[in-house]
Amino acid sequence: AKDPVRVLVTGAAGQIGYALVPMIARGVMLGSDQPVILHMLDIPPAAEALNGVKMELVDAAFPLLKGVVATTDVVEACTGVNIAVMVGGFPRKEGMERKDVMSKNVSIYKSQASALESHAAPNCKVLVVANPANTNALILKEFAPSIPAKNITCLTRLDHNRALGQISERLNVQVSDIKNVIIWGNHSSTQYPDVSHATVKTSSGEKSARELVSDDEWLKGEFITTVQQRGAAIIKARKLSSALSAASSACDHIRDWVLGTPEGTWVSMGVYSDGSYNVPAGLIYSFPVACKDGEWTIVQGLSIDEFSRKKLDATAEELTEEKALAYSCLS
Ligand code: NAI
Repeated sequence: AKDPVRVLVTGAAGQIGYALVPMIARGVMLGSDQPVILHMLDIPPAAEALNGVKMELVDAAFPLLKGVVATTDVVEACTGVNIAVMVGGFPRKEGMERKDVMSKNVSIYKSQASALESHAAPNCKVLVVANPANTNALILKEFAPSIPAKNITCLTRLDHNRALGQISERLNVQVSDIKNVIIWGNHSSTQYPDVSHATVKTSSGEKSARELVSDDEWLKGEFITTVQQRGAAIIKARKLSSALSAASSACDHIRDWVLGTPEGTWVSMGVYSDGSYNVPAGLIYSFPVACKDGEWTIVQGLSIDEFSRKKLDATAEELTEEKALAYSCLS
């Protein structure tokens, strides 16, 4: 039998946490033959609720779940973890300035970076979900200099999956028959959902998604804005933000990173930019990535037309500004 993998979920008493921990305990994230030990962190006001989640995990009697650590102590939470899913953060409240929210999250991600750096297992893989996800991940990277940059990522897989969902509904095809959509840039409304290279499996072979949709106006307009604004549409409908889809996408992100993506396919992940596609180096930016042997690589050589170029640059610009704002909170 395999040794258990320790998976940290921060903000585990929150909405996404409540959807995510049972998925992990059922093997959705790491496979149905991989035992896990869950580490759950939240803050003292949520300690009792967190303990309630732990009780439910015990009650669900998941065969793969070999242990649960539920704590408000960040060192205890981070000790020995192989995977860290960072869902905890400070939400934007009505009337708050962007800078104030950034400042709260910068201080959270700075201190959690240090705890992970000192106490996580070597080669721990980190996924930041909490918003502003790209910039929180960047702060985590900066304050955990001994964790390789390639181990620190943020979640744009939900946006990627939303793009698959929209194309699937539009063409009336299965999501599993669509591949290679891309989310470029920030997990925000400036993200660029791109189907230029996406294909669909049909009874007469693989076809370009763009040709099948055959409505560039929709692809360059409503499709993009629907994906960009989907989070807001969910809040409007549910009065709560996306939780089950965020949790499921976080599992997809880690699963593909650890277990690999099929030959010829890619997924979207927020990763540390090396300057690929003329995106400024040193940002956490969502790129198309292929994964093998537990490592991602940015898919190279995709053609970028003028329309796409502008979109890639606009979202990079927003991330550059966010980075500057985050740094201004440090001083
Ligand atoms: P929530 O408010 O229900 O849960 C957040 C939890 O984090 C709370 O239990 C809170 O006590 C905890 N927390 C706050 N500060 C903490 C700290 N310093 N350490 C540990 N835990 C802490 O929020 P929800 O709906 O679960 O969302 C979590 C985050 O995920 C939000 O920032 C949200 O904007 C983001 N999000 C990101 C998505 C993405 O695709 N990247 C999609 C959906 C949400």
